[in-house]
Amino acid sequence: MTKLIHLSGELERKNGGNRAVVPTMGALHQGHLDLVDAARERVGSNGEVVVTIFVNPTQFGQTAEFEHYPRTLESDFEKCYTSGVDIVFAPSAAQMYPDAGAPSEYVSVHPGPLGEILEGADRPGHFTGVLTIVAKLLNLTKPDCAFFGEKDYQQLILISQMVRQLNFPVQIIGTPTRREPDGLAMSSRNMFLDSDQRSQATVISQALVIAQETDGSVAEKLRAARFVVDGKIETSYLVAMSNDLSQELAVTDPNPEGRLLYAGVLGGTRLIDNMPI
Ligand code: PAF
Repeated sequence: MTKLIHLSGELERKNGGNRAVVPTMGALHQGHLDLVDAARERVGSNGEVVVTIFVNPTQFGQTAEFEHYPRTLESDFEKCYTSGVDIVFAPSAAQMYPDAGAPSEYVSVHPGPLGEILEGADRPGHFTGVLTIVAKLLNLTKPDCAFFGEKDYQQLILISQMVRQLNFPVQIIGTPTRREPDGLAMSSRNMFLDSDQRSQATVISQALVIAQETDGSVAEKLRAARFVVDGKIETSYLVAMSNDLSQELAVTDPNPEGRLLYAGVLGGTRLIDNMPI
């Protein structure tokens, strides 16, 4: 039986098994449920799977974006129940930010240089908000392991870095991106696309696949991908980076190994995706 919990005091462990946590902002889709399945597989039937649902104000640049973010707690809870989640932890903003003063003025986690590039460059302060809330959620839920999707690849790398560098006793596990049948990466933001934009959005994964399939250097792969997206979506970045995102791959590299990362805006909706090169 899934328990819906709003108070952190009730998150005490009830048994001796391992605990896995899946942090989310709700509006759950199959990509989130894949994380839940991976978490269950990891901790087994004696362990506990906790899903956290909290729309975190400090990771949104604009108040309007935060306010319009979908909030679907009832159907999220049903999905968690059907997927065998043990605990849904859905704190209020007052529970997460109990002191006086704006959440943006709280003590926070500095993401370092990796937080300044790609998503961090386009969305200043975003990763400070993400890392701070993830640190708080890990402290409250005290899991043995935590699951994050590769869809938010830079977030996954930054959270792994935070846990390693700040000595959190938790293992971070990434799971592959879940895609729609036409290749679009699943995301809670896809619901903001109208039907034309929804069809147009498929160019993102097509571009990444074409780059993967193009024989040649990084420059040739990126050129092939750009040809697919140009004129169809407003591209913020399309880059080839090392797997740990510490450097861009040399454009002349004839046997590149790393990650292709894309971000673009379609009708006001920001969409990101990535694939191994
Ligand atoms: O990926 C998300 O849904 C959020 O960034 C996270 C990790 C739950 C932090 O709010």
